[in-house]
Amino acid sequence: MKQDGLVRLLESMTMDEKINQLIQLAATFYSEDSKENTGPIREVGLTEENVWNAGSILGQSGAAESIKIQRKYMEKHRLGVPVLFMADVIHGFRTIFPIPLALGCSWDLEMAEKVAEISAREASVSGVHVVFSPMADLVRDPRWGRVMESTGEDPLLNSFFATAFVKGYQGKDPGKEPERVAACVKHYAGYGAVSGGREYNTVNMSERQLRESYLSAYHAAIEAGVKVVMTSFNTVDGIPATGNAWLLRRLLREEQKFEGIIISDWGAVEELTVHAVAKDRKEAALLALKAGVDIEMMTSCYAHHLEELAAEEPSLETLLDQAVMRVLKLKNDLGLFEDPFRGADPEKEERIVLCQEHRQVAREAALKSIVLLKNDGILPVKEGVQVAVIGPGAASKDILGAWSWQGRTQEAVSMIEGAKKIDPKILTGSEPFDYIAPSAKAVSEAVQLAERSEVVILALGEPAWMSGEAASRSDIRLPESQLEFFRKVRKINKNVIVVLYNGRPLDLQGINDANGIVEAWFPGTEGGHALAEVLWGKFNPCGRLCMSFPEQAGQLPIYYNADNTGRPAGISAEPKYISKYLDVANEAKYAFGFGLSYSEFHYGQLVLDKNVLASDGRISATIEVENRSKADGLETVQLYIRDLVGEVVRPIKELKDFRRLALPAGQKCKVTFTIEESMLRYFHSDQSFTSDAGEFDVMIGPDSANLTTQRFRLIK
Ligand code: BGC
Ligand code: BGC
Repeated sequence: MKQDGLVRLLESMTMDEKINQLIQLAATFYSEDSKENTGPIREVGLTEENVWNAGSILGQSGAAESIKIQRKYMEKHRLGVPVLFMADVIHGFRTIFPIPLALGCSWDLEMAEKVAEISAREASVSGVHVVFSPMADLVRDPRWGRVMESTGEDPLLNSFFATAFVKGYQGKDPGKEPERVAACVKHYAGYGAVSGGREYNTVNMSERQLRESYLSAYHAAIEAGVKVVMTSFNTVDGIPATGNAWLLRRLLREEQKFEGIIISDWGAVEELTVHAVAKDRKEAALLALKAGVDIEMMTSCYAHHLEELAAEEPSLETLLDQAVMRVLKLKNDLGLFEDPFRGADPEKEERIVLCQEHRQVAREAALKSIVLLKNDGILPVKEGVQVAVIGPGAASKDILGAWSWQGRTQEAVSMIEGAKKIDPKILTGSEPFDYIAPSAKAVSEAVQLAERSEVVILALGEPAWMSGEAASRSDIRLPESQLEFFRKVRKINKNVIVVLYNGRPLDLQGINDANGIVEAWFPGTEGGHALAEVLWGKFNPCGRLCMSFPEQAGQLPIYYNADNTGRPAGISAEPKYISKYLDVANEAKYAFGFGLSYSEFHYGQLVLDKNVLASDGRISATIEVENRSKADGLETVQLYIRDLVGEVVRPIKELKDFRRLALPAGQKCKVTFTIEESMLRYFHSDQSFTSDAGEFDVMIGPDSANLTTQRFRLIK
């Protein structure tokens, strides 16, 4: 439909019909067998007419059912406006890929795009039009359960991933490609900084900090053309994001020029009354509309009060019309007026959902997301060695992660299933082994197997429900029963490899002296196959942490790109009066960017082609990397920069570029990065994004804690 057609359509709508376009209800209102429920269902008090005129539905999927609902909906809608189906497709639809935090550890943007493309294909043939992904929240505190949905603590890496996901979901134009979907970036803004890592808690930070660290990944998604933005549950400078006009109108609409739909998070409009910035639901509707929220998810403040509000304040009608137009426009952009069923296709759904080709990509993604944290030489497992695979994760299929809505655990490959394909002689137990409270029988069976084996693979971690939404933890160690189990096994076997399933960086106290530690995260449907390949050396691990592992939770939040203090460790002769703890180091246990492989990479001298950078000039920074091992491998060469003197305090290092380098055994290669003035800009106290003349350190190395440095000067 052309723009003037949309305008005419809008003009022909009654007030009720307009307002209904701004309502989003869960699929449970339409179909009996829907599983979606990610928040409290309140008594919404809507009429049958509201329900069958609501502009969008959350959490509906399944081609046949979606077609049925759309058909019924179109029959009932006076003007034949189709309904939009939106859903939480976060890291896969039915083929489940590793959780986003794991994908972040791949540093592989092409693969992330592929993952999103396949997710879009499976979702669209099942009737979904919009996916609530990517989540671009920057995270620094693993107590927060939702770190599993993020790609970590670095603004640049998050921005790259947000862009890759949007491209993968949307393609060039989802209107022209029915196997793509519209993407929704979330949660705008700053949700990753909830105080103390406690879910839904207050966020308090300066505007400058928000801009410098937190906004860039959402904005990258917007630049990539994302169609929808979801608001966050938290406050931004005292005002909940969902009622925050400065955030949504000033920053998002005016500065970022975002023209797509802004949708509230689940129930967040009504929660303005619970935050107590609105005295009642009517005022909540007013605040949200004025702030710029187009669609209200799952509560009915708009449905019940917008008409009355517009009668009292006629200028609101313009805002209302704009919101409705955005909803109609997305429907039109996706081609729903021409074909309301769009990609939904039961036959195709049957054929491509969880097909072999998609499983193959899930396996590749899992392989690239696994991070080898520790290896005293025990890995890869040598041929002919008697191995036991034991512990709560060994036979577990609970490896999809908390956001695998349509994923089915029974379709996942467990570690034991994967391992048996490589070594059918591994010893495994038959007793079910619980993550929190294993039976004495299960533990003693496992300990006996450990006794009879040369090498033990101990599969530990968190069950999936321990991370994700509404799953913050204050103590992020492994459950005590697992630490005790580890001690028992360690006592009788000196060759212990720990494999971890978890949705957050953990405090690894209690298992640090394992001979090898493999971080598997929640690796998705093909997890067991990928893990076996890594453990037995069929695949050389290449994952690099996108989020720091603390030594212990008392250090949290911990992140590599921290600001310098006035009393940093290391420069004062007086050891007492420095920024430190009395009982633990400042450093992370495993820093951002870290990850081992079966290769040994050595870095040579860092050479700059010049030491002075003009505003329009370039410096080439070159370093030689050598693979001094017998294993072909993949190294992620990382470039960081530090601004030595800024107008505001600068981080001690910031990732500015990286290169993933496939290096065959015994070979070396020169890697050259280009440094330009644009990489040196930051937000000043007046919020301007500029660079300062002066000195900078450039640092290159295998991770954020192991770097070689050179200095240059920017002249302006
Ligand atoms: C979550 C969102 C999600 C939405 C819809 C909310 O509770 O915060 O991330 O997209 O529910 O299910
Ligand atoms: C302390 C101040 C104190 C000053 C003079 C500083 O190290 O932070 O609180 O008044 O020394 O002793």
